Amino acid sequence: MKNSAGIIIQARMGSSRLPGKSLMKIKGVPVLGIVVKRLQKCRAVRTIIVATTENKKDRAIIGYCKKNKIKFFAGSEQDVLGRFFECAKLFNLGTVVRITADCPLIDPKTVDEAVKLFDKGNYDYASNITERSFPRGLDVEVFSFNALRKAFEKAEDSFDREHVTHFMYGKKSGFRLGSFSARGRLFRPELRFCVDTITDFELIKKIFSKFGFFVSVSRAIQFLDENPALLLQSAEEEEKYRQNTKKVRQGFANAKCAPGLRRVNNGDLKWIACLMNDPGIRRNSFSPKKITEEQNKRYWKRKLRSGKFAAFAIILGSSPVGLIRIDKKLVSIALEKKYRGRGIAFNSLKKLDLNGCFAEIKPENKESLGLFKKLGFSIQKIVLEKV
Ligand SMILES: CC(C)(COP(=O)(O)OP(=O)(O)OC[C@H]1O[C@@H](n2cnc3c(N)ncnc32)[C@H](O)[C@@H]1OP(=O)(O)O)[C@@H](O)C(=O)NCCC(=O)NCCS
Repeated sequence: MKNSAGIIIQARMGSSRLPGKSLMKIKGVPVLGIVVKRLQKCRAVRTIIVATTENKKDRAIIGYCKKNKIKFFAGSEQDVLGRFFECAKLFNLGTVVRITADCPLIDPKTVDEAVKLFDKGNYDYASNITERSFPRGLDVEVFSFNALRKAFEKAEDSFDREHVTHFMYGKKSGFRLGSFSARGRLFRPELRFCVDTITDFELIKKIFSKFGFFVSVSRAIQFLDENPALLLQSAEEEEKYRQNTKKVRQGFANAKCAPGLRRVNNGDLKWIACLMNDPGIRRNSFSPKKITEEQNKRYWKRKLRSGKFAAFAIILGSSPVGLIRIDKKLVSIALEKKYRGRGIAFNSLKKLDLNGCFAEIKPENKESLGLFKKLGFSIQKIVLEKV
């Protein structure tokens, strides 16, 4: 092993399709526990950490880790990239292996193969996901701490922040990328062994109930081949999943504005800092200086405690793409650049009762003037200032 490789398992209770899946039990052991057990067979890593969120719901995950002496970390729910960075920094990992908690059939040999390839090829990032060849559920990604730091510092898009490695294997990163494919019996890209739906869970349960927690992946595949109904079910679930992710990705790229709103919480501070430091947003602001992380934290700590302040994240898909603040009666809004011009700001603000509110807008900010006029605001005051 070249340096200190550690596995970070991404886990949370909030899943839209199968809430609480990480702690759903098979033969008395939660899915997360099975993932940990199987990963403990890896030879190429020195430690395993579960990275969950600071959400109340995820205290159950922390409780499970404490009880079972599994190392854990709690960070942002939305900014999963930030969660990985803070976790890797805290545990002093030189190399990070990323696994998700919904893959109980994760294969320790495949994980070792990924780490070896990463070390040997001197890559910044190596994985088996760029071209699908393994059944889904055997995904492993390995990257250096430096690559993680660069992604953490540079990735601004909410999709990149939520999907952790998207920036790393994208063209912008300039990273040395390694990839490997399944050979022999493991080459079954049409199958899935992850737990995303109740049907997935039932299949995995059957496999572990029959063969125990340390069943090899090739034995599990053989089991499906011997049971055509299960084989078909697995392939159908995988196809549904692919169609669904396609839609989500398209939704991110061309969202035609069905934004949702939710209250801002402490877990949002990282992406808010990124958003507010967007050069266009700073230019339109009355205090155009860059906002430091510390200033941002202090501001939100104070504001979130204030009774006369309300802040909403604008959500598309499951990611925040903008921010609305109502400070006493002063309303302001900012949207990530690539989501502008699609009616998102208008449709988001329309959901709120803005009676008696006002906005302060620079005269050259045509977009914002148009937006507030469209919402029924009229110009009441022009303030002149000599600069
Ligand atoms: C201002 C801002 C929030 C608008 O978001 P948006 O989602 O693009 O706005 P919408 O698509 O909902 O457009 C609503 C109206 O705003 C105006 N508008 C939006 N983009 C515009 C543009 N490029 N040029 C002129 N008017 C524009 C139009 O009147 C539009 O109505 P229309 O589509 O019927 O013409 C966005 O540009 C932004 O985040 N800017 C940076 C931050 C900022 O300046 N905030 C304002 C300070 S309060």
